Amino acid sequence: MTDGWSRFDGPAGTQMVDVAINAMTEWAATGSNANTGGYFAAADACDALLESTRSVVGEFLGADPAGICLGANMTTMTMSLTRAIARTLKPGDRIVGTRLDHEANVSPWRIACELSGAEHVLTPFDPQTGRLDMAALEKLVNDRTKWVAVTGASNLIGTMPDLKSVIEIAHKQGARVFVDAVALAPHKQINIRELGCDVLATSPYKWYGPHAGVMYIEPALLDSLPVAKVRPASDTGPRRFETGTPNFECIAATQAAARFLIEEDMQRLQAIERAVFAPLLEGLLETRGVRVWGPHDLEMRAPTVSFTLDSMSPDRVAQELAAKKIAVWSGDSYAVEVAAQLGLTDSGGVVRAGVVRYVDNDDVNNFLTAVRGLVSR
Ligand SMILES: Cc1ncc(COP(=O)(O)O)c(C=O)c1O
Repeated sequence: MTDGWSRFDGPAGTQMVDVAINAMTEWAATGSNANTGGYFAAADACDALLESTRSVVGEFLGADPAGICLGANMTTMTMSLTRAIARTLKPGDRIVGTRLDHEANVSPWRIACELSGAEHVLTPFDPQTGRLDMAALEKLVNDRTKWVAVTGASNLIGTMPDLKSVIEIAHKQGARVFVDAVALAPHKQINIRELGCDVLATSPYKWYGPHAGVMYIEPALLDSLPVAKVRPASDTGPRRFETGTPNFECIAATQAAARFLIEEDMQRLQAIERAVFAPLLEGLLETRGVRVWGPHDLEMRAPTVSFTLDSMSPDRVAQELAAKKIAVWSGDSYAVEVAAQLGLTDSGGVVRAGVVRYVDNDDVNNFLTAVRGLVSR
């Protein structure tokens, strides 16, 4: 599948699992392409696909299927959501975000604040440990706060904030919570009912599915938000948020990927990834001339690590590794605030390596040998 490559680029997108590829092509081959709400068999099949996908994805995320919305990708869906939320905000209201977040959970809120006159503030993290500053968050969330936007896991340095505590702090002040679970969902079991967040977004292409987006919006909130929709579209439920004709073939594949992960068992998958990731992290920490950014331990983190070499720029490291068939990303990976708070914006960011299900111990050995080769030059 990976043609001899060691694929540490998984945090930017995974390869699709066979069952998802098959589901996509099977959908296209069945003759079911039509649209929703008709009186013939193919139209019924389209309705049934939406319903069964909401049900399976709801099971995967521990959420009420009535809140599962299907769309293009996390960024597009978040922009639509915050465009609606902007219409509910007024000057004096506050949105609290974090500096651990990917830009897709920063810019949409900033724009909503620009449109409405509300205030946008970001919670810092500790640059030494990579952990969110919970005391600062508690101070920033006041009775004027309408939304707290927080990541489930940093796409750059892996940190998983304590979501339960963030949600408790927000709800105590009457604020709603948006969780960006794009970098969390591939690695850890999510249970929205237990978490109690109001909105959670994830991207199936990060968990072995197709390029698509999934957003859970608490059903009563979904029905009440002034979303931008065309007049004939449904006034209630996910279809009021899902603009236009659904991408049925991607939705079929999304369902298959979610079912694959339910069967794979996220706790089992997490243990497998951790066993592969532990020597990778330890090896980088032990290598002289390598600096690891973010958490140095294995607790409450995604199996994603960022590092720099004293002797070489991140882009150059990525090029050298690519020459050895090792795929990594360099730069800020759109975690603009993370790179800025680490003081790495002007020096080219970091090199990021992430473990996903198909990365194994041999890949890690290749990777560490190659990095050590670069350091000793
Ligand atoms: C943590 C995180 N949030 C949001 C996004 C944006 O997701 P999408 O490409 O589905 O818009 C990414 C993409 O890399 C991400 O890693």
